[in-house]
Amino acid sequence: MSTNNVTVVDHPLVQHKLSLLRQKDRSTSGFRTLLGEISMLLVYEVTRDLKLTYRSIETPLATMQAPSIDGKKVVLLNILRAGTGMVEGMLRILPSARVGNIGLYRDPETLGAVEYYFKLPNEMSDRDVIVVDPMLATGNSAVAAVDRVKAANPRSIKFVCLLAAPEGIANFQDAHPEVPIFTAAIDSHLDEHGYIIPGLGDAGDRLFGTK
Ligand code: URA
Repeated sequence: MSTNNVTVVDHPLVQHKLSLLRQKDRSTSGFRTLLGEISMLLVYEVTRDLKLTYRSIETPLATMQAPSIDGKKVVLLNILRAGTGMVEGMLRILPSARVGNIGLYRDPETLGAVEYYFKLPNEMSDRDVIVVDPMLATGNSAVAAVDRVKAANPRSIKFVCLLAAPEGIANFQDAHPEVPIFTAAIDSHLDEHGYIIPGLGDAGDRLFGTK
């Protein structure tokens, strides 16, 4: 389902696994497994419009013109730290993808994004970038990450998350209206601490078992 440059991946497998993942009693290992599985399914949708090029290959029986993905390897930009759980799943489907990392933490008072690390692969002008963060909450980290990626002038940029809040979508689209958003669900709202309701809690803590 796609409106206003936001695609909700409403495939039953994604929705079922998301419900399992949200549950507060889900173990750390269960959370990791489900996050990886959902991320594989999400990246399948996100990469649906990648360009193909035709090359000659030989099967055991004949020569044929066979499709393969055009251009330099896709870049997954991991918004640390919770993006890691999604990037790992996506790499199972895109094993040759390059991985960039951006470290951003939320200032607890302003909820603004503060950068502490940034590294991208080279030759970005020939690459498609998928920016990855499970939670589009205030949208401040996603906006900051896309600001940085845009400066590297990639061929295209998409943003993918697991859950989005309406406030985060609005903030992101004010800053980057042309960047498509892919998510498994749009939740109700943010609470006063910037957490998504009903959400799933702190994605980083649940992924790394730090709470
Ligand atoms: N980050 C999280 O991990 N969870 C939220 O609900 C919001 C931001």
